[in-house]
Order: sequence, then structure tokens, then C-alpha cells
Amino acid sequence: MRLYLIGAGVSARTHVAAAAKLGEPVELRVADPNAETLAGFLEAFPEATGYASAEEMLAAEQAREDDVAIVATPPRFHFAPAVAAARSGRHVLCEKPLAMTVDEAEEMLRVATEHGVLFGSCSTRFRGLPHNEAVKAVMATGVLGDLVHLDFVTRSPRSRAGIEYQPSSRWFLDSRMSGGGVVMDWGPYDMSTLFDLLQPTRVEMVDAWMAKTRTGADPEGVVHDTESTAGAALRVTRQDGSVLRVNYQRANATHGEEFARAELEGTLAALRWTPFDSHQPVQLRTDAEGEPREETVEPPERDDLSIFDRPLVHFVAALRGRPSLAAIGPIAVDEFRCVRGVYDTARTGRPTVVEVRR
Ligand SMILES: NC(=O)c1ccc[n+]([C@@H]2O[C@H](COP(=O)([O-])OP(=O)(O)OC[C@H]3O[C@@H](n4cnc5c(N)ncnc54)[C@H](O)[C@@H]3O)[C@@H](O)[C@H]2O)c1
Repeated sequence: MRLYLIGAGVSARTHVAAAAKLGEPVELRVADPNAETLAGFLEAFPEATGYASAEEMLAAEQAREDDVAIVATPPRFHFAPAVAAARSGRHVLCEKPLAMTVDEAEEMLRVATEHGVLFGSCSTRFRGLPHNEAVKAVMATGVLGDLVHLDFVTRSPRSRAGIEYQPSSRWFLDSRMSGGGVVMDWGPYDMSTLFDLLQPTRVEMVDAWMAKTRTGADPEGVVHDTESTAGAALRVTRQDGSVLRVNYQRANATHGEEFARAELEGTLAALRWTPFDSHQPVQLRTDAEGEPREETVEPPERDDLSIFDRPLVHFVAALRGRPSLAAIGPIAVDEFRCVRGVYDTARTGRPTVVEVRR
């Protein structure tokens, strides 16, 4: 397989490590207009062929049926190279968030469909982790009864991309480059995980809020207009027609309490786990003759994939026709529509509805 990396920054390097887990030989190509970044990448991975632009790289050779291009640039620069890669006949796996706007994401999908190539999202990084699989397995038994409510909250006091995390990439803080703050950065994982767990047919952002937290570490002299704390009330319709209310929160800078918690409450039992942390237990609370009873759910065995390996491994599994947790085609865009829906509802005060295409 040939892998075409567009962007040679931090995330591109993680995809090289992922390629080594595919179980098949992979030839590497990489393009980055930043000569220093490209040189650093080629020093780390001398087996790769480097180019100064995506256009030059994509035009350098005829596409093969299983060529994969990964768009690993800041969100502002996802659209043009993704469309160029699809037009060149390569399958496209795009970093999260898919695009700056829903219109861009829909157009990327349209072009990929027109050219008969797959269009997938890297939002699937946390899919397949043992705790998520344990939650899905318990849900499938029906032991929870009718699902009533889900709390899905991850709040960190100081972990802003561009400040506490990866301060060299200040673009995260500039909405013209990133499209937004913590909801654009982490919302794709939240929505992708919720889609995997709940398999929604319709998601309604009933209400939403967001704010930029102010701290003494806020950098001076750079554009910093992105939110760092946010939440939404979601109404999720599932395939059986049932409706589940979700309290969604995400913060990478909050003066409130640090906590990460998911609790899925049903009429017969409730499940509690820590979103995105597969080392924490999954707890099932049921009733034993009128008294609450708690037990720990045994998760399935851990595989050898890191979270960074997963998007490419899921995508190539789908490409090769194997069972896969990839988000490809309309579903990838619908997840992203939910991410943007949080912004739209927070801004307008009006609900946003996403009918999920399956
Ligand atoms: N850093 C992480 O831990 C991480 C993890 C997962 C996902 N991501 C996502 O990956 C994407 C890239 O983030 P990053 O952290 O790697 O950024 P980065 O700043 O480390 O690298 C981005 C690179 O893209 C290059 N670039 C810009 N425009 C380009 C173009 N048109 N063609 C080719 N290269 C171009 C830049 O020169 C830069 O070297 C973002 O969407 C981000 O959300 C990042």
C-alpha cells in the first residue's frame, strides 16, 4: 500500500507508527510546504519520499486502487488537499475535525463519492478500546432496561492545545485556523464515540453553551479566540425509536472541578465508566431484591493498538473489506455536523437537528 501524508507535523508522525501495525508493506510519501518540518520528518523517516506540496506529490505518480492519502494539516487546510487527493483517485482519511464548516465537509464527501474513493475521519481514535467495547457488550444484553439518560462529561483544568499541550502549534487558538476550540478539538472524538455506542438515527442539540476561560497562562500577542469549556443538552433518537437524553460537557480549561464521567442510566440498571480512559473500571449498578448492587464489568482483552494507531487501522480494515470501526462516508460527515451543531445552537440559542444517514 502507498500512504500519502499531507502535512508532516505531530499527527503525521503518529500515522507512520500506525502504518507499521497494518500487517502489510507500506510505502511512504509526505508533503509539507514548511521546509524545516519536512526535513525533520525525512530525517526521522528516511524511507519516505518528500514533496514541498500536496499537489506535486499527488501528481508525481498514477493512483493505484488502494492508495490512501491522510490529511494531517490544521483544519483550515483540510478541504483543499482532501478534495485534491480524492480527485487524484486516492482514498482520503482526514484528520479531525473534518473541516471548518459543514458545507466543506459535505463537498469533500461529494467529491470522494464522485471519484469512487472512500472518505473517512480520524475521529475514531478511541473506538475499540476495551472499556467502550465492554459498555457496548452490556448494552447489547438489555440488562439496562429502557435507556433514560447519559452523562458524558470530560473536564480538565488546564490542557488547551496551543498552550499547555503542544504550545508550538499556536494555530489551535485561532478560530480562523482551527475552526474553534475544545469542541472542534475533542468534540469529534466525543461524537464519534457516542455514535459508536448509541448508533443514533437522529441527534438534536436542544441547547448548548460555550465560553473561553481566562487564566494567567493565556499567551500574549497571539490570536486566541477559541472556547475552552462547553456543554450541550442532546436528544438522541436510536434505531428502535427510543429517545435518550444526553448531558454533554467538555472542557480543556475550567475553574470548576476536574472530572471525567460517563453514566448511562436505564430503568433496570446503570453503567458508569470514565470516557477515554480504558484503565478505569466499568461499573454496573443493578438491583438485588430491592437493594442497589454494584459489580465491575470484565472488559475484553486489550489489543496492541495505541489510540493513534486506530484511525488508520480502522480505515484500512474497511478498505480491505474486513470488519471495521471506521467512520466513512455520510456517517463521518454526520458526526461532524453534530460537532458544528453545538456551535450553531450555542450561537443562535436554537436547536440543531442532524438526521443521521445510514
Ligand atoms: N497533535 C496531536 O496530538 C494531534 C492528535 C490527533 C489529531 N490531530 C489533528 O491533526 C491535524 C494536524 O495537527 P498537528 O498537531 O499535526 O499540527 P502541526 O502543527 O504539528 O502540523 C501541521 C503541519 O501541516 C503543514 N501544512 C499546512 N498546510 C499544508 C498543506 N496545504 N499541505 C501540506 N502540509 C501543510 C504545516 O506546515 C505543519 O507542518 C489537526 O487537524 C489536528 O486536530 C493532532
